[in-house]
Amino acid sequence: MKNLVSKNNFPIFSGRYKKMVYLDSAATSQKPQVVIKAETDWYTKYNANIHRGAYKLAEEATELFETTRQRVASFIGAKNYKSIVFTKGTTEGINLVVSAFARHNLKSGDTILLTEMEHHANIVPWQLLAQEIGLKIKYWPVTITGELDMANLDELLTGVKFLSLVHISNVLGTVNPVEKIITQVKKKNVFVLVDAAQSVGHLPVNVSKIKPDFLVFSSHKMLGPTGLGVLYVNPELFADMRPYQAGGEMIAEVGFEFTTFKKMPWLLEAGTQPLAQVYALGATIDYINTLGLKNIYLHSKSLTAYAYEELSKINGLKIYGPNANKRLGLISFSIGKLHAHDLATLLDRQNIFIRAGHHCAMPLHTKLKVAATARISFGVYNTKADIDSVVSALKSILKTWN
Ligand SMILES: Cc1ncc(COP(=O)(O)O)c(C=O)c1O
Repeated sequence: MKNLVSKNNFPIFSGRYKKMVYLDSAATSQKPQVVIKAETDWYTKYNANIHRGAYKLAEEATELFETTRQRVASFIGAKNYKSIVFTKGTTEGINLVVSAFARHNLKSGDTILLTEMEHHANIVPWQLLAQEIGLKIKYWPVTITGELDMANLDELLTGVKFLSLVHISNVLGTVNPVEKIITQVKKKNVFVLVDAAQSVGHLPVNVSKIKPDFLVFSSHKMLGPTGLGVLYVNPELFADMRPYQAGGEMIAEVGFEFTTFKKMPWLLEAGTQPLAQVYALGATIDYINTLGLKNIYLHSKSLTAYAYEELSKINGLKIYGPNANKRLGLISFSIGKLHAHDLATLLDRQNIFIRAGHHCAMPLHTKLKVAATARISFGVYNTKADIDSVVSALKSILKTWN
């Protein structure tokens, strides 16, 4: 198994935690030097507020910002750059769709379909809206192998107006067949949102093929800066979007009694945007394209397969979710009675950093009948040696604790 990139491209690996084995990229990825530099470049070379300046620096800043919008569009296969709305992240993207679309286009008695493997960010905003306007929420069950059973779908869709589902589960690692699901769902005129927090930047995602109405992701989980996310909106729904937040650049004209609004995507971008972060997202896309999304996918696939195989050999270790060829990028597990938090603390003593807890998916953990799991997840910088380190540490912990 070949390394994909040198850890030297990522300054954090030569800083205070030189010896760390970082296995928590599903929570947030580390950043390559080129992305860090781009953020600094914004402040040292281009910084001015956009859309409103009548001087060269501001015009240039606007141009860079809007060019990044176009690059994000082509990165995810969106034909119209106006489909790209900048947000704070996946969580804000979902909240935005709930507030600016679902609240006005769904009515009391309508049903929302979620899956049992959703992150809280794709459950709680829907629960709040359901209480507010009287919606019903149904859940697509997760099978014993940690998948969604396609055979259940048609029956589940009765009365459903909106399906909101995750592309890659942040607990099970399951890669859901979103293209197939959406083809089936669209026959019943159901709106669909895809939570692509764990997929964009990890495998090729093309909205023109998948055809969702909405797709959301976070820059910080794909080697990019924090504080920034993207919402894709199907152009056919532009006219159905209402303001999300109000003020600043989303208005066309304001009088004392009335306001008119800009069109998409600016309608949904109130106030000053995260300018440096958007600029650095452009550099992130360049970096990913240089590595090649297919290579990133294959690297993650082989690390996942190797880790799955090695973890499976450990007696008493239980892996949650499907086998290696149906998952990508992460593995959650538990070891007998040893609490996941204790396990993470013991690994931390060996400079191995993993995640422990419910990973913002408490309902799924209830379904799995486990209070907390340990999770290892991979980035482009991880190597086979990182997996060997965690596997051998787990084996020695087990020896001491059994
Ligand atoms: C599947 C999934 N959805 C949503 C989120 C929320 O992302 P953010 O915190 O960047 O808004 C995460 C983050 O862990 C996630 O893994």
